[in-house]
Amino acid sequence: MTLRLRTERLDLRPFAATDLDEVHAYRRLPEVAAYLYTPVLSREQVAERLTERAGWTTLAGSGGVNLAVVLRDKDAVIGEVNLVWYSEDNRAAELGYVFHPAFAGHGYASEAAAEILRYAFEEAGLHRVVGRCDAENTASWRLMERLGMRREAHFVRNEIMPYSKDRDDPYVSELIYAMLGDEWRARA
Ligand SMILES: CC(C)(COP(=O)(O)OP(=O)(O)OC[C@H]1O[C@@H](n2cnc3c(N)ncnc32)[C@H](O)[C@@H]1OP(=O)(O)O)[C@@H](O)C(=O)NCCC(=O)NCCS
Repeated sequence: MTLRLRTERLDLRPFAATDLDEVHAYRRLPEVAAYLYTPVLSREQVAERLTERAGWTTLAGSGGVNLAVVLRDKDAVIGEVNLVWYSEDNRAAELGYVFHPAFAGHGYASEAAAEILRYAFEEAGLHRVVGRCDAENTASWRLMERLGMRREAHFVRNEIMPYSKDRDDPYVSELIYAMLGDEWRARA
């Protein structure tokens, strides 16, 4: 079953090939790629990625879900959220999000990510959702705190990231956040 979710201001739906230009508009920006595993992407690379992830529309039987976030008022794709399995046996997945900076500061990423958490715990029966980010990615860890996720770890200078290889100190520090299904239900 293809996943479609709706919040007050947003529609979360599978990507379509016709989203290419809107996705490229944010994936080509250095400030968006600054803390991602993937570098800035060309239009062709975005097209490949959309094709690769075309089946990521439901958690069952796929690598995860990767949904376009559409601002309903403007009928515009402003970013994406994803939930990727890291252990199906443990019913555990990782949350991810990437948004166009032109739409930052309105709570859209929080609204979309909260809906993905609701789906994870209330519909998909997940036990644990984890999120991780570069400790310098303040916007990302603040978002996870707004969602009510718990900071579990601060790994100091633990990882060489693709984007950090050319720095004087290529090691970056990583923050780990998590939420359990029980914690989600206690919040509700
Ligand atoms: C991480 C990212 C999604 C966060 O975006 P964001 O715009 O800061 O997050 P939100 O959309 O939730 O907006 C929150 C801001 O809007 C404000 N806001 C306004 N209305 C709001 C509302 N209704 N609800 C919540 N926040 C609201 C908040 O106060 C906050 O502002 P502040 O940062 O000045 O305190 C974005 O920076 C991004 O895409 N970065 C590049 C990709 C990336 O690094 N992804 C994460 C990899 S780990």
